[in-house]
Amino acid sequence: NKRRFLNTAAVLAAGLIVAACSKQEEAPAPAPAAAPAPAPAKVYVVGTDAAYAPFESQNEQGQIVGFDIEVVQAIAAKAGFEVKFVNTPWEGIFNELQQGGRDLLVSAITITDERKQTMDFSDPYFDAAQLIAVKADSTVATFADLKPLKVGVQTGTTGDEVVTQLLGKTSTNVKRFESTPLALKELEAGGVDAVVADNGVVQHYVANNAAGGFKTVSDPAFVPEQYGIAVRKGNAELLAKVNEGLKAIRADGSYDAIHAKYFGARK
Ligand code: ARG
Repeated sequence: NKRRFLNTAAVLAAGLIVAACSKQEEAPAPAPAAAPAPAPAKVYVVGTDAAYAPFESQNEQGQIVGFDIEVVQAIAAKAGFEVKFVNTPWEGIFNELQQGGRDLLVSAITITDERKQTMDFSDPYFDAAQLIAVKADSTVATFADLKPLKVGVQTGTTGDEVVTQLLGKTSTNVKRFESTPLALKELEAGGVDAVVADNGVVQHYVANNAAGGFKTVSDPAFVPEQYGIAVRKGNAELLAKVNEGLKAIRADGSYDAIHAKYFGARK
């Protein structure tokens, strides 16, 4: 009887093993959650001088928002990397990139030959030009009219460059500010006669500050500018990813959707 019991037990055990084995064979592929976690995507630190609406600014919650931000977020999503935006004052922004504190810069940065010496730029992503802001009753009609006047600019911008060229390197009439909004506030206060800055920013400010009593003056003498996203000189790997993402968002209409949100449909 003992033997019979053992036999039965053996048969049962064998059956269980077979069942277990076949069950294992039929089991579905392990769920993705059980797979080893993929290496987390690299998070690139993006520097931006967030006092430049509508390209980059801080909202009431302190979040960095704007056209440039959405363009870089869309690029990153396409190219498969992650980004973290860090508010970085314009003065020193290029240095931060060079020193490694930032991997990318998006800050309505005009691609210039001089800057190309010390950093690499993506393909252009936005066309711009300088624009003059003056009080509504000003007689200024051209850029040359600014020559005898006090003119506000943001230090180290292309606006600073053209105004310094017109008024002269040693002119004390070039009033340099650490941000473009500060220069425009000074125009409102009467401390300067004009401000020269990127058209998109000047237009946005004038449109949103009716109380300032400003008007804008454009001049065909201003050379066309193009914005680029900057990487450290020689960072070809990241630059290629950025350009690939930029191409993709231009091709699938998402660039146009972001453009339309901030500036209306593209002509
Ligand atoms: N486009 C101009 C330049 O490159 C001004 C850019 C200033 N950008 C900013 N976020 N403050 O010089």
